[in-house]
Amino acid sequence: MDKFLLLLLLLAVFPFVFFQGVGPTTLCMVCENFKRGHCLRGKSNCTMEQGPGCRTRDFFIFTDRDGWRYNHTQLDCSNNCQSMNYHLGTLRISIFCCKGQDFCNKYQGKGLEWKPY
Ligand SMILES: *[C@@H]1O[C@H](CO)[C@@H](O)[C@H](O)[C@H]1NC(C)=O
Ligand SMILES: *[C@@H]1O[C@H](CO)[C@@H](O)[C@H](O)[C@H]1NC(C)=O
Repeated sequence: MDKFLLLLLLLAVFPFVFFQGVGPTTLCMVCENFKRGHCLRGKSNCTMEQGPGCRTRDFFIFTDRDGWRYNHTQLDCSNNCQSMNYHLGTLRISIFCCKGQDFCNKYQGKGLEWKPY
């Protein structure tokens, strides 16, 4: 009986252990200051096991002279990533979430296409 239980336990646990490394994980880029497709500071990477957890955040700053202007983009992983915009005083942050393609978060938001003018 004990052997039977052990077998059941192994059958229950092994597929999990075995498939863990093969699961649909997404590699995301981590960057503190991402502009024009290049990471200027704090470049690294992180992996998300599930959910749309590769995060892109565009930061905009408001000044009386220029209005809202794009400042920089940050890339990272977030377990509860939600696409949205929010304001913090003179700061506006646009959040994008993605999954399923490695480094997909560098293709969201303004970090890639933005050019000085
Ligand atoms: C992920 O980052 C580590 C260092 O943090 C680096 O050694 C590794 O090459 C990176 N992997 C990829 C796929 O870029
Ligand atoms: C604006 O971007 C610069 C880097 O280009 C950064 O050092 C600064 O902290 C950013 N400002 C805000 C308010 O996030």
